[in-house]
Amino acid sequence: MVSQRTMKRDEKRPKWWYEETDPAGVDYSSAELVQRYDCHGGFLTYEHDAAPVDAIVSIFVLHHLPDFWKLVGLKRAAEMLKPYGRLFLCDIVFPSETANLEAELNAWVTSIAKQSGPELAAEAETHIRDEYSTYNWVMEGLLARAGFEIGSAEYSGRLQATYVCAKSGP
Ligand SMILES: C[S@@+](CC[C@H](N)C(=O)[O-])C[C@H]1O[C@@H](n2cnc3c(N)ncnc32)[C@H](O)[C@@H]1O
Repeated sequence: MVSQRTMKRDEKRPKWWYEETDPAGVDYSSAELVQRYDCHGGFLTYEHDAAPVDAIVSIFVLHHLPDFWKLVGLKRAAEMLKPYGRLFLCDIVFPSETANLEAELNAWVTSIAKQSGPELAAEAETHIRDEYSTYNWVMEGLLARAGFEIGSAEYSGRLQATYVCAKSGP
């Protein structure tokens, strides 16, 4: 878990823990106390032996875990956060409201092929076939059961979901 961000003061006290290497699209430039905290481990294996952190960022990672393990991983993440600490979670989730899910998935793969070429389109197919993206309502339920309040849930780019959550109070 490595961040490219230049971290600022308070070098000895971890303030932010990046779950992933590239919190793309997240602007923390106004967060003065951001500190780099490199470590290795996954949702199920990382042991946080420091003070609880202010925020956790996870980008396109959680779909690697089946739903049972997603909840285990999210609960572990919640335990590492301060009360009211933030979780920024971005991932591919399936829409449950759509009348024709198959058409929606085909359109997703086609749009990736057009934008990024056949290799990434093949990866998208692999994602649908072999990985563990879940439905939007399941993801929202998992977050709630892990102890998060969802401040915003944004669904865009057909299958992309972005959740900004706060850990429920003590
Ligand atoms: C699709 S890549 C996303 C990488 C990067 N966040 C990005 O947006 O480009 C998926 C990443 O999930 C990581 N990963 C897989 N299983 C994980 C787990 N159980 N806990 C944490 N990370 C995991 C992989 O190592 C890989 O880096």
